Amino acid sequence: MKSIILVGGEGTRLRPLTYETPKQMLPLVGVPMIESLFETLLSHGVTDAVLALGYLPDRFIEAYPTNVIAGVRVTYAVEPEPLDTAGAIRFAAEFAGIDETFLVVNGDVLTDLNITKLLEFHRSSGAEATIALHPVEDPSRFGVVPTTPEGRVLAFVEKPPHGQAPTNLINAGTYIFEPSVLERIAPTGRVSVEREIFPALAAAGTLYAMPDDAYWLDTGTPQAYLRANRDILTGQDKRPSVNVVNGSWRHPLSTIDPSAVLVHAVVDRDCRVGANVVLEDAVLLPGAVIEEGAVVRMSIIGPEAVVGSYSMLGATCVVGAKEHIAPGSVLSGDVRLGGV
Ligand code: GTP
Repeated sequence: MKSIILVGGEGTRLRPLTYETPKQMLPLVGVPMIESLFETLLSHGVTDAVLALGYLPDRFIEAYPTNVIAGVRVTYAVEPEPLDTAGAIRFAAEFAGIDETFLVVNGDVLTDLNITKLLEFHRSSGAEATIALHPVEDPSRFGVVPTTPEGRVLAFVEKPPHGQAPTNLINAGTYIFEPSVLERIAPTGRVSVEREIFPALAAAGTLYAMPDDAYWLDTGTPQAYLRANRDILTGQDKRPSVNVVNGSWRHPLSTIDPSAVLVHAVVDRDCRVGANVVLEDAVLLPGAVIEEGAVVRMSIIGPEAVVGSYSMLGATCVVGAKEHIAPGSVLSGDVRLGGV
């Protein structure tokens, strides 16, 4: 089955990290997110994929010049302008000449969803499109999908107000489409699959959905990005190749003072961590420096950023590339440091 992987979004919720690096190229415990995604896709039998690129496409093309990502053969469909999710699907499908049932995956979702089961369900229901659903406690920041007992989608409610969602089953960002869906997408400009195409398919009665309680995480916010790293450290998202020691991971080319305390921390390559530093649920991206006595909790420190001595960073700081935090700073709340 042919597949399209959407990775062309700007990742605004992860700014400033995404000013220089597209979301799916950010590392999770040292490995670009896209490689984790492709490892999982390959384990479910996906051997070929079209990467739907828009924002910072060269970062992908330069990183994988042989057109292979984690064992999956890829082709690059680069949009001339942002087309939004449905526009991107149409563009990539035309680019790759897709004319049969195909898979679409949001590239910022980590999941172990059973794609074979989804395809079987899609075929047995005769749907035009099928959405994988995932149960969550608070559906208010997702697309919520109520269905009949047979799985026919009754409505597609994007981000309902808190406490007013008709179900806790949300759009998990993995779809099976018949090529006829492409004809429903306007040939030019931005079109959203969530806000335009799914409601239209639901109204036509040809959209189905299948719940699956496999591991699932949308990595699009700083909190979710930290959670994704922690899940790998604690073995929730089973990544065989990661060498986690005492619940943390450190790149061999990083220097960590023996007095530093690491609790569920990720220290990527070329980082420097000083004496008596505490890192708890923290991610240091390549080249970050944490000076003596600083405490970093529930925060992401961008490439080559410096956290000055005896600073305290708490939930949730996102420090952009090359930013300097003055010694003794105290920061917490939803703090973003660094611009374009
Ligand atoms: P935010 O700006 O933080 O919402 O992130 P985002 O830009 O990634 O948007 P969102 O999470 O809603 O996107 C869902 C998926 O679609 C992600 O995998 C995006 O990379 C992808 N996506 C969003 N817009 C486009 C687009 O215009 N072109 C392509 N190719 N992919 C897109």
